[in-house]
Amino acid sequence: MPYTVNKLNGYSATVLDKAFADLRDAFRDEAVCVSDLVQFKAHRDRWLARKNGVLTLVRELWLREAPAEARAEVGKRFNDVKSHIEGLVKTQGMDLELRKLEGSISKRIETVDEWKQAELGDPLDITLPGIRRPIGAEHPVIKTMNEMIGVFRNLGYSVEEGPEIETDFYNFEALNFPPNHPARDTQDTLFIAGQESKPLRDRLLLRTHTSPVQIRTMQKMKPPVRVVCPGKVHRNDAPDATHSPIFHQIEGLAVDTNITFCDLKGTLDHAMKAMFGSSVKTRFYPSFFPFTEPSADVQISCIFCDGKGTRDGAPCRNCKASGWIELLGCGMVDPNVYGFVDYDATKVSGFAFGMGVERIAILKYGVDDIQLFFQGDVRFLEQFG
Ligand code: PHE
Repeated sequence: MPYTVNKLNGYSATVLDKAFADLRDAFRDEAVCVSDLVQFKAHRDRWLARKNGVLTLVRELWLREAPAEARAEVGKRFNDVKSHIEGLVKTQGMDLELRKLEGSISKRIETVDEWKQAELGDPLDITLPGIRRPIGAEHPVIKTMNEMIGVFRNLGYSVEEGPEIETDFYNFEALNFPPNHPARDTQDTLFIAGQESKPLRDRLLLRTHTSPVQIRTMQKMKPPVRVVCPGKVHRNDAPDATHSPIFHQIEGLAVDTNITFCDLKGTLDHAMKAMFGSSVKTRFYPSFFPFTEPSADVQISCIFCDGKGTRDGAPCRNCKASGWIELLGCGMVDPNVYGFVDYDATKVSGFAFGMGVERIAILKYGVDDIQLFFQGDVRFLEQFG
């Protein structure tokens, strides 16, 4: 027999206790039979519908009819049972929605005992302490990036950012990589599909370096320019202990009148000392980048063996016994690049440099696998707090 609401035959505490207890039991007996969302909605409407729902009938037949002296008692019990039922309906509804999402029917409340158990767990004790959420630590890559940015901020540089999805023009062409130039092969990346109808320079790709931000900056600012450009970059590299298809770079650019290679050397020597300690030495080694001429790779004296090449009598593994570690690329901005941004190459000169943030973090924190930066393992990350 489904539960029906009848008028009360009295308003004594005993009668009220029994009537409200029966009401709760009836709700529970019906609730445990609910096993899907359709049944849940029918059950919810039967109990909570504003018109003719069981609780509405209880209000009309028990509360409204109550003599004045009993009204407060009935009202209190009514409010209790109402919030109890509403709370359980909400929980059960959410539970079913969740299970529908998960597509599983595990862990459903099926028996009266389980229901009682759930009810027991239900009351909320607001005096209990809250759940403590551990304070996160800055990710070592971001931390290193911010440290490096700080070094250049102190030298008067500002920060510029650019899009991660770039056009061929900004990533290659304006940086003096002509179409089909072999230097492009060293920076292979993902190209967005279906763009064959566009001219090459407008086709989109995931940027391979932060150097496109050089171009964007020079397009919008006239010299003097001093910027650092941090950001995420992409290359077609298989992941291993020292490579990752996604990593981060900081690019720097200074353009003004009379900027020379000496300024470049002094700036980078200072930056490396600020990052790795004042005893670190730097060495500039000839290199090639299409957008700088001359170009150099910068090496720092090995911070593990103090540049000696040996440690504890054995060859130093970190610098392959050479005493030097290669850290970044740099050079004087190639005059061709100024042609793409309407700077007068006869009047201005400047330098640029670019470095891998993970590589610096690996050295600074003695990390032996670049993949650790991307795996999100808190045991690794919390060491940087
Ligand atoms: N963009 C170069 C790279 O990613 C690094 C670089 C930047 C070299 C600026 C010189 C000047 O390899």
